[in-house]
Amino acid sequence: MTSPTKPTVYIETYGCQMNVSDSELMYGTLAAHGYEAVSGPEGADVILVNTCAIRENAETRVIGRLGELKRHMGPKTIVGVTGCMAQRLGPRLLKTKHVSLVIGPDSYRALPALIDGARRGERFTATDFDLEEHYEDVVARRFEGVKAWIPVQRGCNYRCTYCIVPFTRGSERSRQLADVVRETHEVVAQGLTEVVLLGQTVNSYNDGTHDFADLLRAVGAVDGIRRVRYTSPHPNDFSDRVIAAMAEVPTVCEHVHLPMQSGSTSVLKRMLRRYSREDYLACVTRLRAGIPGLALTTDIIVGFPGETDAEFEDTLSLCREVLFHDAFMFKFSMREGTPAERMPVEWTVPDDVVTERFNRLVTTVRGLSRDGNLTRLGLKTEVLIEKVARDGEMFQARTRDFKTVMVPAEAGRIGDYLMVEITGTTGATFTGTPLKVERKMLPLIGSRE
Ligand code: SAH
Ligand code: SF4
Ligand code: F3S
Repeated sequence: MTSPTKPTVYIETYGCQMNVSDSELMYGTLAAHGYEAVSGPEGADVILVNTCAIRENAETRVIGRLGELKRHMGPKTIVGVTGCMAQRLGPRLLKTKHVSLVIGPDSYRALPALIDGARRGERFTATDFDLEEHYEDVVARRFEGVKAWIPVQRGCNYRCTYCIVPFTRGSERSRQLADVVRETHEVVAQGLTEVVLLGQTVNSYNDGTHDFADLLRAVGAVDGIRRVRYTSPHPNDFSDRVIAAMAEVPTVCEHVHLPMQSGSTSVLKRMLRRYSREDYLACVTRLRAGIPGLALTTDIIVGFPGETDAEFEDTLSLCREVLFHDAFMFKFSMREGTPAERMPVEWTVPDDVVTERFNRLVTTVRGLSRDGNLTRLGLKTEVLIEKVARDGEMFQARTRDFKTVMVPAEAGRIGDYLMVEITGTTGATFTGTPLKVERKMLPLIGSRE
């Protein structure tokens, strides 16, 4: 219910989980200042668009959306752009007349004051980096039903030549382990049982005293937590200590999203990924040896400057060698100011070649994934019911190793864990037949335990 006295805010989120988590912090900050969250832009007093700058099409979408949002604005509505595009473009975004605020990821604390200023007709850009800022005193306002995104590290100290993130998020810094553990206890008290630890190279986490292995052990031991995940690690930061922690902490799930980007050592060198094809494979071998039943997913970029057919074939062959459960695949997008921009123009891979390679990669990865999925029929496994499936009739659930399983609606409720037998697959997702329901009667308010 919207109370007539409270100002309302709607935040539309684009990009990665870090942005989803930042939106939760922004809602938290504004709630502490008397704002009420609403689920759509119509009639909202404040509309914030939390943006992503990773590829050109992410930005084009936002520009289009800002135009559309004009329709939902009343005479006093304040529109702000936040996130990575705000950080990247800064005051350039104020050229859009109905945008009054441009706020980068380290300046969300100033939101209430800046909105007040905008109400008085002022327009602001706030894009300073603040290496101390972790929003420790802000209580995130979470909307996700079963899992909590917990940022443990902000920024990035790598400088992959294609990537805008170091420009939009600044240098790497880690939260104190005790603060992450405190937040984990809070999310358990809110009734959630899964946490996803977030950072751009999350396994390089270091708070001065503790490393990522310590963090996994501490978070994984919090009473009430049943699943711990994290994203995204960098292959160079997988110490034996981290692999041992993954293997030994029962709540840490058997899934690693391990961005590969390319299977060609020469492309990886031009990307400044700081590992070779062989190094990547060696990391996969160590992870698989240490963690039985481990599932791997990845990110791949097609058409990086200078990519030859032979180099692209190396990407295909590495996919065949590793057998990823799934992959996010992207066409290279040139970002202003990145080192890739200074590469010779003749290295540019023509659009039609990129599209052909991209299609070939998608076919290969999906085919390998389907073949692997067919071997899983008949398996008995634990799933967590996450949400109502898109068809509106079944529930969408997940295995510990990150497979999507559709289960019948009568199998339980959102937030329940249950054992299922994998009885069907579309190739990409599965259907599961419940074996034994561990039903927890959930009170509407309070703890689930
Ligand atoms: N920090 C993470 C990645 C964050 S960006 C890591 O290092 O793995 C998510 C993914 O977007 C990247 O893994 C990469 O595959 C893709 N990406 C980043 N910049 C890109 C660009 N300029 N063009 C196309 N894809 C890009
Ligand atoms: Fe970008 Fe590389 Fe940092 Fe990932 S590790 S955020 S790809 S610079
Ligand atoms: Fe996009 Fe920024 Fe995340 S560029 S991918 S929202 S860190």
